[in-house]
Amino acid sequence: MAMLLGSILGMTSFTVSAAGGEGVQLFPVDINVFDTAALQQGARTFTDYCLGCHSASYMRFKRLAGDLGYTEEEVERYLLPAGQELTNTMTSSMSPELATKVFGTDAPDLSLVARARGEQWLYSYFLSFYKDEERALGWNNTVFPNASMPHVIWELQGVQTLAQHAETQADEHADGGHGGHFNPADQFELIETGLQDAEEYQRTVQDLVTFLVYLSEPSQLQRHQLGIWVILFLALFTVLAWFLKAEYWQDIH
Ligand code: HEC
Repeated sequence: MAMLLGSILGMTSFTVSAAGGEGVQLFPVDINVFDTAALQQGARTFTDYCLGCHSASYMRFKRLAGDLGYTEEEVERYLLPAGQELTNTMTSSMSPELATKVFGTDAPDLSLVARARGEQWLYSYFLSFYKDEERALGWNNTVFPNASMPHVIWELQGVQTLAQHAETQADEHADGGHGGHFNPADQFELIETGLQDAEEYQRTVQDLVTFLVYLSEPSQLQRHQLGIWVILFLALFTVLAWFLKAEYWQDIH
């Protein structure tokens, strides 16, 4: 029991430290993997904007049909890239060699990234790209400094730069402890508007992260549903066992 408790506590502290990054302030977000509309929207953003470079090689397109509330025809229409089969795994057409040549590093497989980085990190990452002429591709990121990935959904968000007062703001928030709500608007200034306003863009990113969280453990959808039946069974079984016990002891007395 003590060991079990210890490992649960150990896991919790691991999640917190992984989510916290190296002293980076992250933006709060609520992720609900049971929100089918969010999953569908996130999957579309993923196949439109990410699959070009990243794979999610533990996931088959076919599985998305049941899990995301789509029919197989809808998966074909909305998610399947040209030339791919439903039974294929979600693999990128870009080879690791080409990625390394273009970006200086491979674009990692994203199947488990939500577990490795945490949902808050991912959400904050996509809100924290800013224009930086000193970088080869013109982009930098406060959550992942000097990342070699460009801001691939900039046309949705627009272009932002680091706000002049960002550093002092960040210091104030750091002093305020973890409780204070850290706001992207404190840190960045939008210099070119995108196709979406700030609220719409945050929703797009939230949906994308919801899909990444689902991707990191697809069976969590079934596991949670199964859990309800297991509890119901246990409750029923307790009642049955109680009556059975009463029945047996009746003869013994
Ligand atoms: C143009 C190619 C390209 C596209 C498109 C792209 N990425 Fe990346 N991505 C990269 C590269 C290269 C890296 C490695 C960055 C590094 O390590 O410096 C990366 C890194 C990442 C990381 C950090 C992984 C880690 O844990 O270190 C995440 C998360 C990520 N990408 C998510 C996405 C998502 C989600 C999309 C779609 C919205 C996307 N990427 C689209 C090239 C791309």
